[in-house]
Amino acid sequence: MKKTAQKMVVANWKMHGNLKQNQTLLEAYIRTLDNLPHTQVVVCAPYPYLAQLQSLLADTDIAWGAQNIAKMERGAYTGEVSAEMLRDFGSTHVIIGHSERSTAYCESDENIAQKFMVAKKHGLTPILCVGETLIEREAGMQENVVAKQLDTIIRMYGAQVFADAVISYEPIWAIGTGLAATPAQATEMHKFIHDKIAVLDEAAAKRLKILYGGSVNPQNALQLMVVKNCDGGLIGRCSLNAQEFEQICMAAERVSQSDE
Ligand code: 13P
Repeated sequence: MKKTAQKMVVANWKMHGNLKQNQTLLEAYIRTLDNLPHTQVVVCAPYPYLAQLQSLLADTDIAWGAQNIAKMERGAYTGEVSAEMLRDFGSTHVIIGHSERSTAYCESDENIAQKFMVAKKHGLTPILCVGETLIEREAGMQENVVAKQLDTIIRMYGAQVFADAVISYEPIWAIGTGLAATPAQATEMHKFIHDKIAVLDEAAAKRLKILYGGSVNPQNALQLMVVKNCDGGLIGRCSLNAQEFEQICMAAERVSQSDE
C-alpha cells in the first residue's frame, strides 16, 4: 500500500471471474499497474477469490478487498462474512452500500452505516457508495438524496469517521449504462460531498477521498479524473478488460502527476 498516492482507482469485479480468468487479468494488472507512483490501485473481488488475490498481489503495490461485509463482528449469521475474515486474507478495502446490493437486498442507510463502522473498527478502508436514481435527478433531488445517505453515518458516528475513508459518487443511472455523469454533474456533486463533510470536520474532509463511479471508460476517464475534488474512480465493466482498466489507471496517474 502506498502512503503518498493522490488518486485511487478501484476495480469492482462484481460477480464476474473464475480462477483462470482472474489469474490472467491479475497478471496483466501487475505487468502494467504495479508501482504507479501516484495512484493506488485496488481490486475488489468476490469473496472466494480473496485467497487468490492475496497470493498473487502480496508482493505488489496493488491492494485488494471485497464488495460487502457483515455489519456484525461474528456469531451465528449464516452466509455472512466478517471484517476480520477479510483482514485474514490481507484485504485493506471494502465496498459498502453499492446500489446493486442496497436495492436488491433492501439495505437500509442504518445497515450501511453499521457496515461502514465495522470496517473502520477492523482497519479496513470503507468505500461508501452514494448516488441518486434517474427519477431523483430529473426531480433535482440528487443532493438531498446523497445528503440523506451521508447524514445517517454522521448522525450515528460523527463526521470525523470520514477521515481516511472513501466515498464513491455513483449515480445509479450511470452504472452499467454507458452513460457517465458529465464532468459538470460530477464537479457539482463532488463539491457538494466535500463541502458537506468539510463544514463539519475540515481535517476529516482533507483525509477523505471522493471517487466517481458509473460507466467510466478509457474515453471519458481523463475528463472525469480532472474534476475538482475527484480523487479517482470505481470501475465496473472496464475493470474486467486489462487494457481498458490500464488506460483508466494511466489517466488517473497522469492527472495526479500533474497535480504535484
Ligand atoms: P460500470 O463501470 O460497469 O458502470 O459500474 C460502475 C460500478 O458500479 C462500480 O462500482
